[in-house]
Amino acid sequence: MHSSRPRSFSRRRFVGSLLAGGAGAAVLRAGAAPTADPAAAASADWVGAARAQIPALSNCLYFQSGGYGPSPRRVMNAVKAALDLQNEAPADPKINAQITDLENDCRNRIAHLTGADPAEVTLTSNTTTGLNIVLWSIDWRPGDEILIGDEEHPAMLMPVYNLERRFGVRRRVVPVGDPTRVVAEVLSRLTPTTRLVALSHVSRGSGRTVPGRELAAALRARNFRLLLDGAQGPGNVRVNFHEIGCDYYSLCGHKWLLGPKGTGALLTRRDALEATPVSWTGSRAQATFDEVGNFTWLPDSRRYEFATRNSAGFAGLADSLAWLEGLGWDRIHARIVELAGFATQAVQASKHLTMTSPTAADARNGIVVLRLPAACKAAAAYETLHQENRMLLSPVTHPQDIRLSVHFFNLPQEIAAVVDRLDRYAAAAVAKA
Ligand SMILES: Cc1ncc(COP(=O)(O)O)c(C=O)c1O
Repeated sequence: MHSSRPRSFSRRRFVGSLLAGGAGAAVLRAGAAPTADPAAAASADWVGAARAQIPALSNCLYFQSGGYGPSPRRVMNAVKAALDLQNEAPADPKINAQITDLENDCRNRIAHLTGADPAEVTLTSNTTTGLNIVLWSIDWRPGDEILIGDEEHPAMLMPVYNLERRFGVRRRVVPVGDPTRVVAEVLSRLTPTTRLVALSHVSRGSGRTVPGRELAAALRARNFRLLLDGAQGPGNVRVNFHEIGCDYYSLCGHKWLLGPKGTGALLTRRDALEATPVSWTGSRAQATFDEVGNFTWLPDSRRYEFATRNSAGFAGLADSLAWLEGLGWDRIHARIVELAGFATQAVQASKHLTMTSPTAADARNGIVVLRLPAACKAAAAYETLHQENRMLLSPVTHPQDIRLSVHFFNLPQEIAAVVDRLDRYAAAAVAKA
């Protein structure tokens, strides 16, 4: 059987039997209410017990939680249970009320996880929707400026490029490579026409975290607003919305939180709500309404939600949040940092690979990015490892950078095997060049 405890890296260590223990997922009661999983939480081998519930882990070495998190089977069951409930009679007001309760349970759990108030949570389909809610809340005029980071995902870039094209907004780019300089770099670019600062909280391409708290305080003192893209945040790193103090934080349920694909949330500070007008809207966003043009918005962040939605997805996200909380966030975060440290040592012990992401214990997280030699292309390495070794990683922005998203369920043996494989891949490319 595998050991689930990271030990310090040794190149001589045996890395076989990698998938042992991944199969035979225990199927939990269909439609389980979103409670913790006491058996997995109490098990001495809590990682092994949790792994047994995630089907994807018996198919491959899964290092892509920063792209798509692999859900435990009970999340799939919770989605199905919600769909079954809804389809007993979708138009029945009693059923509808139960479905709304499921959504609100998800809202409450997101608030609990992030230290937000439930009234500050808008349920969305993904991180990008939350970014767009904020980006389109501004009445942009030609020449208005937005500050973004130089490591943004297309989820931020595309809407910002669109604003440039549609309204003549000016995009100014802030280097975020040195976290100790980010606040100064942002402040030095603020002008009277700056309308918003929008940055990734944790960079998907380098694993670096911006100093959200210091930045939010500096911007608040100057009356500028801050939007953080938290796609790589909750589930990977601890996030407390009020402690950070930013105005907006957009997150998703389908990466590190292991929820159904197409779930997310935007957090909007209560005191930013009235200054953040609604753009797209429809029924269910209003508190009052008549046929001749009068209406009032819901008094909280639900005003950005509208129409009929995939409520079963939110039931699934509530379930994965309950499961993860039951396993213990402290344990999960400690293990992610420990495994990232193990990966760091493995890369540092390799001949051909170097680290891009932070290596210090207080700066690293589940996004481990390493650089291949110039003779390699990360996209080709990704293909080869996927096709030949069933290893799922992700090429990121720099052509030689490849990312391992290391979640709590990953094993040191898996990490050792992936790093070893990448090193051999690099050696072969260097020999050929
Ligand atoms: C930093 C960042 N922002 C946004 C996204 C897009 O996330 P979503 O599909 O939830 O909109 C990603 C996806 O990888 C990301 O890494």
